[in-house]
Amino acid sequence: MPRLSLAFFSAGALCGLSGMIFGIVMAASGDHSLSPAHAHLNLVGWASLALMGAFYAVSGAGGRLGWINFFLSTLGVALMVPSLAYYLRGVKAAEPILAGSSILAALGMLTFVIVVLSRWKTAKPA
Ligand code: HEM
Repeated sequence: MPRLSLAFFSAGALCGLSGMIFGIVMAASGDHSLSPAHAHLNLVGWASLALMGAFYAVSGAGGRLGWINFFLSTLGVALMVPSLAYYLRGVKAAEPILAGSSILAALGMLTFVIVVLSRWKTAKPA
């Protein structure tokens, strides 16, 4: 497996494990007020990073743009989840970090879209 895919799966799996622990803590405490942060950790972290890693593994794509995708997407979710949690707790100072990290995550997805679409050049006929 290429290192890029392994990097995506490593970050994604860590998000999946911490997202599940987050969910268990919410369920056990009965306090579900941070559930949007839990959902974003699982969906923008675990699900999206793992899907991207799977694409890079099966397609053989990668290179500099693939690593840019990895750093944007991983940094985006790493900053988004805590800032969203603070924002939900009423800490308004977290809002600019939340906004910036959302843009990072969206730029990561934009990079991924560019990589995916660029594969049409070399795609085999079905
Ligand atoms: C051990 C595993 C997990 C536990 C214990 C758990 C627990 C919870 C709890 C307690 C809630 C709040 C429910 C409510 O207030 O109605 C929740 C919401 C949610 N969870 Fe999880 N969860 C787990 C894994 C996952 C995974 C793997 C995903 C997605 C890949 C996920 C996605 C969501 C979503 C989308 C919501 C709704 C968020 C919202 O409405 O704001 N969860 N979860």
